[in-house]
Amino acid sequence: MSAASDRLNLVVLISGGGTNLQSLIDAIDAGELSASISAVFSNNSEAFGLQRAEKAGITTHIASHRDYENRSEYDAALADQIVKYQPDFLILAGFMRILSAGFVARFSDRILNIHPALLPKFKGTNTHQRAIDAGEVEHGATVHLVTEALDDGPNLLQARVPVLEGDTAASLQQRVLKEEHRIYPQAIQMLATGKLIIQDGVIKDNNGFSVTN
Ligand code: GAR
Repeated sequence: MSAASDRLNLVVLISGGGTNLQSLIDAIDAGELSASISAVFSNNSEAFGLQRAEKAGITTHIASHRDYENRSEYDAALADQIVKYQPDFLILAGFMRILSAGFVARFSDRILNIHPALLPKFKGTNTHQRAIDAGEVEHGATVHLVTEALDDGPNLLQARVPVLEGDTAASLQQRVLKEEHRIYPQAIQMLATGKLIIQDGVIKDNNGFSVTN
């Protein structure tokens, strides 16, 4: 956290609609999240989330991977831009790119992601349909620390929803998304208040005990 303020300085990375970004903006405005968002980066110039950021007066950057030869060059350029904001945390909010080990190492213990499943179940994409196809009775969302492995870091917070008779991927997605919008600001606020601490890839409570969700 920067010495001048007790608010977390966040940089948010998006690729699409940005409803999770909106939930963070709204939580900050409501005084429920002690943070400020200094910049939003998108790899997709069409992402509606960019409009949400602009409306909230947040600086936006488009970093298209098409402008770079390979993943490591793209990630290095993206990281170089992000460090200028000196963020306490990078918040992946529907950022649909896998980040290289070099990128993750540069921001170790400081990258969070929200994933629409109860990790470690259903890593990757198409999680809602896969949960239905697997006959799950429960599905949900997970806020986790980003490590080098995809959707694999330790969990900060999870929310569960029922899978209902007749659910489609779309109806289940809506139910999960509502929970995402609740737990992402909540998890970040737990870091802002010191209720959760991240140290060397381990999530601890304020007594120093490792937590698992
Ligand atoms: C969210 O459901 C988020 O959990 C998911 O993308 C959606 C983005 O929605 N992220 C992933 O699948 C990452 N593996 P949003 O742009 O409206 O926040």
